[in-house]
Amino acid sequence: MRADRYRVGFVGAGGVAARHASVLAGFPDVAIVGVVDPYADAARSLSEKFGATVEESVDDLLALEPDAVYVCVPPFAHGPAEAAVLAAGIPLFVEKPLGLDAELPQQLAARIVAADVVTGVGFHWRYSAAVARARDILDGHRVSLVAGTWLDKVPPVGWWPRRDGSGGQLIEQAVHVVDLARVLVGDVTEVYAVADAAPPDVPDADVDSSAAATLRFASGAVGTLSTTCRLGWKHRAALEIFADGIALAISEEGCEVRTTEGNEWHPVDPMDAKRAVDRAFLNAVGGDREGLRVDYPDALRSHQLACALARSASERRPIDV
Ligand SMILES: NC(=O)c1ccc[n+]([C@@H]2O[C@H](COP(=O)([O-])OP(=O)(O)OC[C@H]3O[C@@H](n4cnc5c(N)ncnc54)[C@H](O)[C@@H]3O)[C@@H](O)[C@H]2O)c1
Repeated sequence: MRADRYRVGFVGAGGVAARHASVLAGFPDVAIVGVVDPYADAARSLSEKFGATVEESVDDLLALEPDAVYVCVPPFAHGPAEAAVLAAGIPLFVEKPLGLDAELPQQLAARIVAADVVTGVGFHWRYSAAVARARDILDGHRVSLVAGTWLDKVPPVGWWPRRDGSGGQLIEQAVHVVDLARVLVGDVTEVYAVADAAPPDVPDADVDSSAAATLRFASGAVGTLSTTCRLGWKHRAALEIFADGIALAISEEGCEVRTTEGNEWHPVDPMDAKRAVDRAFLNAVGGDREGLRVDYPDALRSHQLACALARSASERRPIDV
């Protein structure tokens, strides 16, 4: 067996691709073999750093016969790369969000299920020890109330402030929190979101500045979600969960618990979950799917929920999910 058991290709060589590549380069059994990005500087920089070749197209990348491909493109650019990788039957890691809307990801998910291709998705919060702790504490308790927040700045990438670039904050950012709510509290049956449609104060922006939403869970629990991109800093991205005698707050930094017995704080290193999501995917590529906590078809359900929230805000009406 080769030392580099997993030969990985990248489609998209921006910020998140660089993070995955650094994590993968820290594993003893991974080689990054090729990079595709229409922005030549990004492709060159990532490939030089990790000893990979720059490829002109996804087909050229696939000609290197990688064991897995990471698709780290902006929301508007999903589709062609995934389709080509799936056609080649190669395992696929896709960064969130899966697309600008639900239609294309639904089609891709159907192909993934039919072909039983190994997939991973960048919902790395699922791999956090803070989430595991929350799950343990909530075990056997009925959640009554959920409060999600994503209070942040406009990220410094040109595609973000445009609806046709990012899909907006509910789809692009809050989907992490929406995903956690689904995992810890269960399916959502109805959402109603209202938005401050005034765009943030950056050039060419047309996304909503803020949104406030309510969610009804199948279990009977209810929830809220508050988002804004009008701050100059990342203020808070978290999910609070309330059950009889339990108040939990989960963030990328840890899980804060208050019960009738007292308070606990379980800090975590946010990089641990980011490493774990890549390791679990590669293990699945190698045949061990045990540790894979979220694949594309599962992630699709959280993406559909985020899309329903965005549609509710734009159509100004409650939506049955
Ligand atoms: N899970 C997470 O924590 C996390 C963190 C950051 C970003 N993301 C997600 O990752 C995605 C990319 O974000 P980013 O910060 O890396 O953006 P970025 O703008 O830094 O990088 C995206 C790169 O993709 C390239 N690209 C555009 N169209 C392409 C195409 N058709 N084929 C190949 N490359 C293409 C761009 O030229 C750019 O270099 C976004 O959807 C974002 O939401 C996830």
